[in-house]
Amino acid sequence: MKIGNIDLGVQPILLAPMEDVTDIGFRQLCKRFGVSMVYTEFVSAEALVRSIQASLNKLTISDAERPVGIQIYGRDVESMVEAAKIVEQAHPDVIDINFGCPVKKVAGKGAGAGMLRNIPLLLEITREVVKAVHTPVTVKTRLGWDENNLIITELAEQLQDCGIQALTIHGRTRSQMYTGNADWTLIGEVKNNPRIHIPIIGNGDITSPQEAKQAFERFGVDAIMVGRAAFGQPWIFKEMRDYLDGKPYDASLGINKKIDILKEQLHINVSRIDEYRGILHTRRHLAASPIFKGIPDFRQTRIAMLRASTVVELENILEACRKRLVDEL
Ligand SMILES: Cc1cc2nc3c(=O)[nH]c(=O)nc-3n(C[C@H](O)[C@H](O)[C@H](O)COP(=O)(O)O)c2cc1C
Repeated sequence: MKIGNIDLGVQPILLAPMEDVTDIGFRQLCKRFGVSMVYTEFVSAEALVRSIQASLNKLTISDAERPVGIQIYGRDVESMVEAAKIVEQAHPDVIDINFGCPVKKVAGKGAGAGMLRNIPLLLEITREVVKAVHTPVTVKTRLGWDENNLIITELAEQLQDCGIQALTIHGRTRSQMYTGNADWTLIGEVKNNPRIHIPIIGNGDITSPQEAKQAFERFGVDAIMVGRAAFGQPWIFKEMRDYLDGKPYDASLGINKKIDILKEQLHINVSRIDEYRGILHTRRHLAASPIFKGIPDFRQTRIAMLRASTVVELENILEACRKRLVDEL
């Protein structure tokens, strides 16, 4: 499957953009475990235009994680075009436009999924961004605003006509936020529309290698995108990849190695972002990581993880977890 000239191979698995989650450390680890493409967290176009440093920092990407998409969101043509030009200077492989974020502070102001209520503007932004940059432009969106406005089939054609090079569809409406189950039937319908020739990337609720395989087989999508299931377990991409490629389960990645990987994530984040945010982001992964679920009374440890404010504190918690898990083996 190709986005523009970028060859992502057969049945690619993409890491979903996630705010405060898909930072550079996590993206690099996912890449090591065979993810086909990664995306940054979304970046506000307004903030980029106003040169807000925290947002400019989110444009930092490394060659080791390519291909990488930088995602932007906004609600007016001018700032989105300007932001896309700024993003292009960071040399991402793809510029992705977010028309899917459901949270109030974004969608409530008309950006992200809020754009699903103003299709003419959504299309104008897309058309103008595509015209303004040489980098392939892609879009990530949802099925529609709510169950009475499931517009994705027509919208996909309109977006394709604007010149985007791939479309990611999260199988929920804005109203659903993250509730209910993702509906993949409409994603499949878009993919099977004979007018659609751009790659369709399916997203929503893929949590296991088996579900990954099913998504390709049942809905025919060109790629799948995985978000929450990767929290605290970047190795899930290897498990999915191996399963899709028909390779046997690789049990060599035992608990010790997994804890080492999470420690590495902490160190990359602290050195590549800064100590405060590096810890903040990593804490979230640790607290969500399924590898600790078997620890009796994990709740207390989880609270300690989420409160830790220094690298040493977090490392000590991880080592205590390692001891408990290894002793139990
Ligand atoms: C914490 C969090 C942050 C997210 N941030 C973004 C974002 O910045 N841009 C975006 O397009 N989607 C964002 N999403 C949505 C995900 O990319 C994805 O579409 C959604 O989680 C469904 O996929 P999943 O079921 O595999 O998690 C976010 C989701 C979560 C849980």
